Formats: sequence, C-alpha cells, structure tokens
Amino acid sequence: MERVFSGIQPTGVLHLGNYLGAVRNWVAIQSDYECIYCVVDLHAVTQSYDVAAMPGRILELATGLLACGLDATQVRLFVQSSLPQHAELAWVFTCVTSMGELGRQTQFKSKSEQQADNINVGLFAYPVLQAADILLYKASRVPVGEDQEQHLELSREIARRFNARFGATFPEPRTLFTSTPRIRGLDGAAKMSKSLGNHIAVDEDEAVLRRKLASAVTDPARQKRADPGHPEICNIYSLHKFFSDSGSCQEIESACRTAAIGCVDCKKRLGDQLLAHFAPIRERWRTLRERPDEVRDVLRQGQRQCQQLADATMAEVRAKMGLNW
Ligand code: TRP
Repeated sequence: MERVFSGIQPTGVLHLGNYLGAVRNWVAIQSDYECIYCVVDLHAVTQSYDVAAMPGRILELATGLLACGLDATQVRLFVQSSLPQHAELAWVFTCVTSMGELGRQTQFKSKSEQQADNINVGLFAYPVLQAADILLYKASRVPVGEDQEQHLELSREIARRFNARFGATFPEPRTLFTSTPRIRGLDGAAKMSKSLGNHIAVDEDEAVLRRKLASAVTDPARQKRADPGHPEICNIYSLHKFFSDSGSCQEIESACRTAAIGCVDCKKRLGDQLLAHFAPIRERWRTLRERPDEVRDVLRQGQRQCQQLADATMAEVRAKMGLNW
C-alpha cells in the first residue's frame, strides 16, 4: 500500500472549503492507502493567534475530523507538535532550500500582504516544514487541493536535492486528486477561508447558515428575479453540484437559465441539502465533544505509531549527513 500524508491547520473552524477540498477525500481513501493525517499546529503559529484558544482548537479540529468519518482504527491521526522530528527535519531541509524559491511561493506572497506586520521567518519557511511533514514518513501521495500544488512541487525539489547531496533517501511525493476544485468563498473571492470570513462551517448553526447563504454572491447578471442566470459561473450552483443529486442539479440548471427559479429558492434548496448532508456529522461531533479524553487517546495513539517511523527516518538522515558520531 502506498503511504499518504496530509495535514490541516487548527485555525478555527472546519468549513466547506476544507471539507470538499480535503477532508472528504481523506475519508474516502482511508482504506485504500496507509494514511497519516496530522493537525499541523506548528504551521498555524506562523500567524498571530490566541494562545489561550489554541489547545481547544486543536482538540476541536481532531474531533471534527473524526466526526467527518476518519476511522482511528484505519488511519493515524496525531498533532504535529507532539513529534519534534518534524521541526528537526525541517531545519535540515532549510539547508537544501534556496531563499529564492521560497520567496517565489505564491502563498508566502499573499500571506505577507495579509499580515504585513508579521512577516516572520516561519512564514517564509512554511513550505519547508510541510516538506518535512510529508518526507519524515516517506509518504508518496498527498491528498490536497490544487492551491497546495506549488508547495508539493517544492517538496519534490527538496527530496531531489537531499537525495543528490546525501544519497537516495526520500521519494518524490505526488498530489492525489488534483481534480479537486478550489472552493470559492461566499463573497465570490478566489478561496473560501476562515481568515477572509467568507466560509460556511461544517457544523454551522441552521440560522447562521441560512443567513450566510442569503447574502452569498450569485451570478452578477441576475439583478432581478426575472433575469436569466448562468449557473456555470454561479458559486451557489457549483455547491449544488456537490450536495444535490444529478437530477436536481439538471433541474436547477435549466430553471436558473430560464429564470423559473430565483436565487432565493436556489439558496434555500442548497441550505436544505447542506443541513441534510451534515446532520449525521454534526450528531457525531456533538457526541464526541462530550468525550474529549477519547479524542486525546486517538491522538496519543497516532503519536506513538508515527514516532517509530519518525525515529527511523531521522536516524537515517543523521547517518547520511555525517551527524552520527
Ligand atoms: N499547507 C497545508 C494547507 O494549508 C497544510 C499542510 C501542512 C499540509 N503540512 C502538510 C498538507 C503536509 C499536506 C501535507 O492546507
């Protein structure tokens, strides 16, 4: 079985973008690959954050991932900072990575604009830590959305560079599910994200969900109820494609084009679908939230399992680099 690694940041809420872009794929492949999934808290601290809230966020995210269907008997789920080998390998990798290629990363450029008062070295080296996450376990497959492709390309480059300098050690990790679309925000912005405040949470309260949908951007050409729409450019329609069956999608598509339904109805139907889809997840989430020690046990078990792999890789890395006196 090929080994898969993926990570998700504990930055606040699990939203539709994370769910469609990553988490539902993590669940779908858990019995087809040897999967390691990680709550990447060391990545999250490259942004300003509320220290007191962090432990709760880590646990809440792990709880949500289990509620979405990750099966702790099949996958290893753990917290990045619980294994210091991630930071150690990241240091090694910074020594085979050039300043120039990190400066060209689009995520670094956009984050530098978003947090101009906090352009720290960790933000700059973020993709190096990501490469260490993956390569510490010699994972060959990484299920992420297309926005991570540049980081994956850099991970491959780092693997090649290390191998060329110190001897064959790491595989070149490849993206799994490159077709996963980027989920746009409710405001029509390029990406749904918590920090942009344009998201719908997986466990969104019904009233909030309806309110967010009501103000979400649709086809700008549909100013009035009678204006015919263009579903192919409408973000709400693109969400219908994930949550409504193909019959309903076809019906909505033609009804939108002929202005037989308005955006209000279309959004109401999407809201119904979202609530139905996430009902069992929300139910499991609620149950698990009452048993935080169970979630902690899962994370500790994942930590123990991953530690053995991490130790083996670091012993090999130290030997190959001549650090094994
Ligand atoms: N950068 C990823 C994101 O923002 C999170 C991440 C960190 C990750 N380490 C990883 C993803 C390793 C895949 C593999 O989505």
